[in-house]
Amino acid sequence: MAQAVPQSMRVITTNNEMSQACREAVKPVGLVPTMGALHAGHLSLVDQARADNLTVIVSIFVNPTQFGDQKDLEKYPRDMEGDLEMLRRHGVDLVYAPTVDEVYPKGFNTWVDVGPLADKLEGLQRPGHFRGVATVVSKLFNVMRPDRAYFGQKDGQQVVVIQKLAMDLDMGVEVVVMPTIRESDGLAMSSRNVQLSPNQRLAASVIHRALCQMYLLWSGGERNGDVLRESARNILRAELAVDEIDYVSVASMVTLDEQTTIEGRAMVSAAIRMGSVRLIDNIVLE
Ligand code: PAF
Repeated sequence: MAQAVPQSMRVITTNNEMSQACREAVKPVGLVPTMGALHAGHLSLVDQARADNLTVIVSIFVNPTQFGDQKDLEKYPRDMEGDLEMLRRHGVDLVYAPTVDEVYPKGFNTWVDVGPLADKLEGLQRPGHFRGVATVVSKLFNVMRPDRAYFGQKDGQQVVVIQKLAMDLDMGVEVVVMPTIRESDGLAMSSRNVQLSPNQRLAASVIHRALCQMYLLWSGGERNGDVLRESARNILRAELAVDEIDYVSVASMVTLDEQTTIEGRAMVSAAIRMGSVRLIDNIVLE
């Protein structure tokens, strides 16, 4: 819930000052890492962090190393003033908003590689993406040493990757995963949605309909992965050309391997292109 009275909120831009502020912060500390252009999905993470912790930090950093395409990086939406205003209203204590040079100083050359998890699904379409995500999230954890960090299920593979890195590298951070927040037609909230034209925006909810179809089949007892994938593709094809469908997946939540027969916890996901905008979404089968 947004707090009625605006809190005093410190905005910090350097690692040293941020580390110092975190050492002095009242524990437990909750961190919400973001790339800004905040929406209700981010704010649900902030509110949960506020409910769970005595100090809440939000980082705002458009991380260049997770973008393969320079144009995509340049056109990524940014609204620092609007973001800070929202965070103030939601009772955030500290905002970390470093420059690119602060995070990646000259000579930076150490990377976090999470192995095969990074090469599937989004990783196939965006080589190097998860190396960039894993590296920046590790750096954020090291600078701030939070007790908990909050991520949205919307980026399902990212959540799996970050849980693995937190465990493998003994980060001592509890990774809290919050449900996807959706528009009234089911479209998952995303900073990229503002880049859709009105017609694309209308059509974009097709990705959620396709995922719901897979979920319905699975709820009815269907366990054949191909049957689920084909049912989703049929729905997507009504709105999109074949080359606008990047992938439709039914994968294990542990290995992210495609499932022939669905067993255990699985995630149905899809990625589509609408003009220059790429949309992803998922539903966990559990
Ligand atoms: O989900 C995001 O916004 C980013 O991938 C993250 C986790 C902030 C790392 O840059």
